[in-house]
Amino acid sequence: MGRNHISHSDIATWAADRVNLPQETASKFREQARGVREKIEKYLSEHKEFTLKKILLSGSLAKGTALRSLNDIDMACYISGADVPRDIQTLLKYLAERLRKAYPNFSSDQIKPQTYSVTISFRGSGLDVDVVPILYNGDPDWYGNLVSQDDGSFLKTCIPRHLEFIRKRKADNQTHFAQVVRLVKYWKNNMKQENEDFKFKSFMIELILAKLADDGVDFSDYPEALQHFFTYVAETHIRERIVFTDYYSLSDVGTFTEPVQIIDPVNEENNASKLYTNSQADTIWEAALGAGDAIDSALAAPTKDKTIYYWQKVFGPSFQI
Ligand SMILES: Nc1ncnc2c1ncn2[C@@H]1O[C@H](COP(=O)(O)OP(=O)(O)OP(=O)(O)O)[C@@H](O)[C@H]1O
Ligand SMILES: [Mg+2]
Repeated sequence: MGRNHISHSDIATWAADRVNLPQETASKFREQARGVREKIEKYLSEHKEFTLKKILLSGSLAKGTALRSLNDIDMACYISGADVPRDIQTLLKYLAERLRKAYPNFSSDQIKPQTYSVTISFRGSGLDVDVVPILYNGDPDWYGNLVSQDDGSFLKTCIPRHLEFIRKRKADNQTHFAQVVRLVKYWKNNMKQENEDFKFKSFMIELILAKLADDGVDFSDYPEALQHFFTYVAETHIRERIVFTDYYSLSDVGTFTEPVQIIDPVNEENNASKLYTNSQADTIWEAALGAGDAIDSALAAPTKDKTIYYWQKVFGPSFQI
């Protein structure tokens, strides 16, 4: 049977070699982010009126769920002050100007506004740092209005609590939670390559997996954990509301009208999947059905070649054992 040809530990080894961002690379990038943070902190300590109040690593590098294919370092920057522009383009220009103050030796083309963020390019070394603004009003828990990287709207949320939320799931399921997240993200990227209409936000994948982990699904066998994920999406058509009670109670959650309802674990009013249409949700559902069938076939396949053939339907041609 296919499980004898490709086992859980084969998937784990392949993931370590091909899917995960290597530990040393991650450390190097985190070091680079620390450099940026220290620069801003130093400038702020010398200029109390400076409106960039805090900058921190966010996104997959902060959560320990980054893939090898990571192509920038996400940081979130808290900006406060009465004269901070609300218009997105003006806000990005404002942020770029302030970052340039902290980096007086950088040329202006090294600190540039993009569509919904500002990039800092470090010549020669490392990756670009992508700085996402958060409008901040002094909340002690660091809630603020994050500029959505999907459509530039403001989302009330809390990055430190997102990190804490994921950290908790990782602690409850050491190694395996983060690994399964990375495998599902790898599948997602493969689907995206095959179909340009396919989209499935990494944050949504993490939240679905967090729900399954909280419900007691065992993540320690990767083929099975993947199968749980795909079965969940297939059975619910990704139309079941997902909520968490780490930071609010169920009774606080109102009603939503969007087809996909995966609610931000730190703000009960923010649907993290609000931009997904019925048609996009159906595309995810179909892809999950296909992946589930392929894994079933892989686990039952009579030869190693056949087993690889089916796993490649999930992970693409780069899957090799
Ligand atoms: N709709 C949202 N509401 C609230 N916060 C969000 C939302 N979308 C993203 N975030 C925040 O941005 C972070 C980054 O999420 P995102 O889905 O862009 O990818 P990622 O975890 O960096 O993965 P990768 O870049 O590897 O695909 C999340 O961890 C979360 O803190
Ligand atoms: Mg990211």
